[in-house]
Amino acid sequence: MKTDYQLLYPPVIRFGWGCRNETPARLRDLGCGSLPRTMLVCSGSVRRSGLVDALLAELEPVIVAEQPGVSHDPPIAEVDAIARAARTADAQLILAIGGGSVIDAAKAAAGIAPTGLPCAEFYHRGQAVPANALPLVALPTTAGTGAEITMNSVLSDPVADTKKSIRSPYLVPKIALIDPELTVSASPALTAASGLDALTQAIESYLSTGAQATSQALALAAVRLLYHWLPAAYANGADRTARTQVAEGSMLSAMAFGQSGLGAVHGLAHPLGHLLSLPHGYTCAVLLPVILRWNASAKPREFNELATACGLADGAAFIAAIAALANGLGIPGTLAAFQFDRDADYIVANCRSGSMKANPRPLSDQDVRAILRELAP
Ligand SMILES: [Fe+2]
Repeated sequence: MKTDYQLLYPPVIRFGWGCRNETPARLRDLGCGSLPRTMLVCSGSVRRSGLVDALLAELEPVIVAEQPGVSHDPPIAEVDAIARAARTADAQLILAIGGGSVIDAAKAAAGIAPTGLPCAEFYHRGQAVPANALPLVALPTTAGTGAEITMNSVLSDPVADTKKSIRSPYLVPKIALIDPELTVSASPALTAASGLDALTQAIESYLSTGAQATSQALALAAVRLLYHWLPAAYANGADRTARTQVAEGSMLSAMAFGQSGLGAVHGLAHPLGHLLSLPHGYTCAVLLPVILRWNASAKPREFNELATACGLADGAAFIAAIAALANGLGIPGTLAAFQFDRDADYIVANCRSGSMKANPRPLSDQDVRAILRELAP
């Protein structure tokens, strides 16, 4: 476990049912005056839910530009469009209300807007995000990705056929307002995918080579909450207690993995999900039991601790329970769309990210192929 590390979080993390209604006052706290010129990036489905009608009506005087929704795995061209609109409207800050894709696109746009450079410079050529990035305020509407907490933005380039992150301390949002009520309109499938992403992130963080005392404390608390409450949130989206506990678990998960890094589930899920156009959380959930079986021998004590947190006997029982949980939430044990002979080379060629390096038990290309074989039905 690491004993030399730095922690980096949004200066304000606010959690609570209904706290989205504090947004106007929070925007005024950012030092941009009483009417801060705000670019809004808001998911279309959240708008249609009516959950933010009152809030957006109150914000109308400060919204100077708007991007209505963002594609999944936001393409860098969409980030450029948001950054351009923010510059044209002379926006002082960006407000993101949505799931991980909306927040990731808004984060990247806020980071690059002051530079005038295209996103490709940052995504492909490693250009550094400047310190004068626009302030970003993030309101997540799914409980899962943790994008409102972390320093990375997951993007894609359809032309180059890639999906990967840009990372910078200057991409960390200035304020994360986590209102569990915003998640009540998420469908059972979205609740399962995003919640299992949060659970995967917490487990991978706990086992990661980058884990330290803080991240492990947060990750274990996240696993406990998500394991116990996800089924109830999935079964009844209107269950306020379950939605609150899952949102809190998601927040804790992000506070953990943002500091520790992840593991091979995320290393493989990015190219796999991109290749097969599958939701990120769904892809993670299919991979999770397979990778846990691979990792079990590397961290036996940690597996037992995870089991105890879930009220289970040992590491083997934990892996079986996680597989059963995912199955109960509609996740299959294999990927029907995955064809080993067609797809394995692409995954092997595109999986060597920081997440793979943080996995507690290294995987050779041959090991990756053996694991991918298990996913082919
Ligand atoms: Fe994830």
